[in-house]
Parts: sequence; C-alpha cells; structure tokens
Amino acid sequence: MSHGLTLAVSKGRILVDLLPLLAGMGIEPAEDPETSRSLIIPARGGALQLVIVRAADVPTYVEYGAADLGVVGKDVLLEYPGEGLYEPLDLGIARCRLVVAGPAGGVECAAGRLRIATKYVRTTRRYFAEKGDQVEVIRLYGSMELAPLVGLADRIVDLVDTGNTLRANGLAVLETIAAISARLIVNKAAMKMKNLEVKRMLAAFARAAGQGPQLSSEGGAP
Ligand code: ATP
Ligand code: PRP
Repeated sequence: MSHGLTLAVSKGRILVDLLPLLAGMGIEPAEDPETSRSLIIPARGGALQLVIVRAADVPTYVEYGAADLGVVGKDVLLEYPGEGLYEPLDLGIARCRLVVAGPAGGVECAAGRLRIATKYVRTTRRYFAEKGDQVEVIRLYGSMELAPLVGLADRIVDLVDTGNTLRANGLAVLETIAAISARLIVNKAAMKMKNLEVKRMLAAFARAAGQGPQLSSEGGAP
C-alpha cells in the first residue's frame, strides 16, 4: 500500500500545533503520535505518513530524502548548515522569539569579551559578528537560563514565548534576534520527482495555515 508522502516532525510543541492543522486538511494519524512508541505513523487516507524525529534532526531527514517534507522551527533552520532544502511555507505555529537575555538588573560582565551560553551556536556567532561584537560562545544543550545565575556566562541566547522562564530566573530580554515559527520544508528532489503530489500537499498546508505558499528566495521552489 502506498503511504504517499513522508513528513518528518518532532514530538512536543510542533506536533501539538501541527495536529489540528493536519485535521483541518482531513489528515488523521492512525495512532496518537504523542503517546505511540512507533516512529513511522501512517495517516488514514494514505496521502501522508509521519516519521517522528528529534526537532534538530528534521532538516537532515528532509535534505537526504528520508522524508519528502518536514515541519520544523525557524530556529532549527537558522542553525542548520545545509542548503539542500526548500522552505516554501511559514505555518505560523509554535511562535516564539530567539533573543539575547541577561540579568534583569543589567549587571555588567567583567572586562573582556562577553560570554554567551546557548545551543544556537552558529546563529549566535553570526548575529554578534554582524554587529561587530567579539563574544565567546559556550555551547549548552538545555537549561540555558541557569548559566548567568551560576557565573558560567554573562548572557544567553534562547527562545522566549511567555517570558515566564526568564522572569522566574531573574533574567530579561535584551535584544531580539529573530521571530520564530514552524516552517514546512521540502526535499529538492521530491519537489521535482513528486511535483504534483508535493504541490497538492503544499496547497493544502497553505489553506490550512490560512495563507498562500510564499515562494521566497531562501525557500525558492519551482
Ligand atoms: P528536543 O526535545 O529534541 O531537545 P526541543 O526541546 O527543541 O527539542 P521543543 O521544546 O518541542 O523541542 O521545541 C520544538 C520547537 O518549538 C523549537 O525548535 C521552536 O521552534 C519551538 N519552541 C520551542 N520553545 C518554544 C516556546 N517556549 N514557545 C513556542 N515555541 C517554542
Ligand atoms: C523553551 C526555551 C525556554 C522556554 C521559553 O524551553 O528554551 O526555556 O521554552 O518559554 P517561555 O518564555 O514561555 O517561558 P522548553 O520548555 O522547550 O524546555 P527545553 O529547554 O527542554 O527545550
């Protein structure tokens, strides 16, 4: 039986926001992806199957063609080094901001380069380099908010939505680097070889997200 197109997605926030969108497109996973231990979940109707991967791995599955499509945060795409992807659609879900944050009182760091703790190492380096600021970037894998509290870093670069996590740790937003939302990404070969199926799926996603496909330069798809 054909499963149609394969869509890579991560459990958690993105999936929580994506499932109602898929429901609006008449696509219903055969099992609840949040509770199922299966990593390949067909959807009823056969137009799509979901593959469940870590958020940071979604672009890799799509670039290498293990998935035709993916749904992933712009924060992950900014950090991803590859260029083998189309990014035709902003789904407008899982919205937040990527920010520089630091102590709410504005305590200044010791003399010398600012130390920035983050899991967004590439994006952070790029952002400060473009401003002409020399900084030291320390890679962390989570709980970035702790770093300034224990003297590991002067600032953090992390996602903020409600601001509750920053506030609870005496931190505040200092600068906004980018507005973040989940994007639909497409494998370049699939866009050519499965053009009709992919275009139909893109149009359905665009309708469900309440917008037309944005074939931007970075996303430029034929
Ligand atoms: P993993 O669980 O694999 O370590 P993760 O912690 O990045 O990955 P999530 O927290 O589910 O996974 O985040 C997935 C995506 O959701 C992020 O890449 C970002 O685009 C978005 N996101 C993360 N935090 C928030 C937030 N507080 N509010 C809104 N969207 C968010
Ligand atoms: C994300 C992010 C912040 C928090 C911001 O963490 O890393 O810590 O959300 O959201 P807020 O502004 O609404 O408080 P998450 O909860 O995903 O935990 P994680 O660090 O394990 O990814």
